[in-house]
Parts: sequence; C-alpha cells; structure tokens
Amino acid sequence: MDEAARQCAELINDSKNVVALTGAGISTSCGIPDFRGPRGLYVTRQYDPEKVFDINHFRKDPKPFFEFAQDFLNLQNNLQPSFSHRFLASLEKKGKLSGLITQNIDLLHQKAGSQSALEIHGSFWKSYCQTCGKKYSFEETAEKIFTSGIPMCEDGIIKPDIVFFGENVKRLDEAIAMCESADLLLVIGSSCVVQPAAGLPGLTSGKVIVINLQPVDLGMANVVLQVNQDMDEFLKAVEFEVG
Ligand code: OAD
Repeated sequence: MDEAARQCAELINDSKNVVALTGAGISTSCGIPDFRGPRGLYVTRQYDPEKVFDINHFRKDPKPFFEFAQDFLNLQNNLQPSFSHRFLASLEKKGKLSGLITQNIDLLHQKAGSQSALEIHGSFWKSYCQTCGKKYSFEETAEKIFTSGIPMCEDGIIKPDIVFFGENVKRLDEAIAMCESADLLLVIGSSCVVQPAAGLPGLTSGKVIVINLQPVDLGMANVVLQVNQDMDEFLKAVEFEVG
C-alpha cells in the first residue's frame, strides 16, 4: 500500500489538472449504503433501487421513494463526511484539485468543504412541484415529508431534484469538458457501470487512478493505478505523502 500511496501522491503532485469522479463508495463509512458494494442495496435489498429511483415507478407510486427519503433525512442531520470527502476538499483548497464530479445525492462533499462539486445525479438540496414547477428548499421539503409522507404542492407532488433512472443527468457537458481536459482523473468509490457517468473516465486522455474496494473495468481508459482497498485508509497514506 505504501508504494501505491506514494505513486498516487506523486501523480497528484506532478499533474496540473486533477479531477475526481466519486460514487456511493465514498459515503459507506459515513453509514450510507452503496448500491453494488458487498453490503450495497442490490445485495441487501433494504430498499428496492429499481422501485425507489425509477421515474416511471415514481409517477405511478411515489411511496417507496419517500419511505427511503424519510430514512435518509433522519440520517442526514447526523451524517459526517468521511476522511475521503475531507481529503478531496483539502486538495481543492490547496489548489491541487481542479474539478469534482459526484454521482452522490447526499451533500457530503459540500459538508466537507468542497466548493465546486458537480452533482450530476442532483441532490436533496432543492425540490420542484412536478405539476407547476414551484421550487422548494431542502427544509420545506423535509418538513412536508415528515408531516405528510408524500410532500404535496397545491396540486402536484414535490420531487427532490435527484436524477432517477429514466431522467437526464445534470451538467453533463461540464463533466465531459472536465474529464477531457484532466491530466489525472481519480475515480473513487464507483463501480462505473451506470451510464453516462461510467463513460466519463474513457474521455480523458490523461492518466486514471481507480480507488475502489472491488476491481473496476474502465475499458479503454488509461488506468495507471488500480487500488482495491478501503479508500479512507489508502487516502490517509496518500495525504501523508502529498503533504
Ligand atoms: P456502486 O454501489 O455501484 O459502487 C460503489 C463502489 O464503491 C463499489 O464497487 C464498492 O466496492 C466501492 N466501495 C464501497 N465502500 C468502499 C470503501 N470504503 N472504500 C473503497 N471502495 C468502496 O455506486 P455508484 O457507482 O455510485 O444512480 O452507482 C452509480 C449510480 O447507480 C448511483 O448514482 C445511483 C445508482 O443506481 C441513480 O440512482 C440514478
């Protein structure tokens, strides 16, 4: 691990345009299950991801999503960012990270102090009425979810601004531009099987480092280092070397 951490730190220090792409694995140590990891939702079926995050299912029956949302909001107040969230925020602060793309909706990059996280799957931060388009804040939506289960506007359901299966991801052009111009892309805690995010590493002509418990197949991407272990432990060693 020390040699891999040293290599990773050296690549970060020697690169001019470092970008990170994160997935659900960065939040597992905070207590949020991922999807396809060893204890992910597709394994435990604690929630059924096909029902909870599918827009066609949501339009027919939004209850499974709001049951998940209630549990998630209960957790949210006490959630603390992981070491890895804080590591990326500190890299940004030091001017060593020029872009951060996340597939996560949990707001933990912001909580860790990252200023520029590009949330391509949206977040709970704002919500919209599905009928009239009225915007609701995080607090307003959370209160309505807790009081009525399904948050309602005058005549429509209020949906948090999260990208469901069947919807377009957000700010994809910006994410593509970031990856195309990166000379080093850190892919952290993502199985990289859900498009279009999964295709982003293939767009960089720079080097790619994968940090993920399970091996990730990035096809044609220029993967120079694949670290298959706990990211918090690994990045602690990297931080020591980055200085
Ligand atoms: P996945 O659950 O597919 O992948 C998370 C990866 O993180 C897994 O391969 C785990 O092995 C790894 N992992 C978990 N804990 C780790 C740790 N402590 N250290 C290192 N690696 C760890 O999550 P995503 O790739 O983010 O989309 O999933 C992509 C999208 O699929 C999600 O944004 C969501 C989902 O369906 C929508 O809901 C639209």
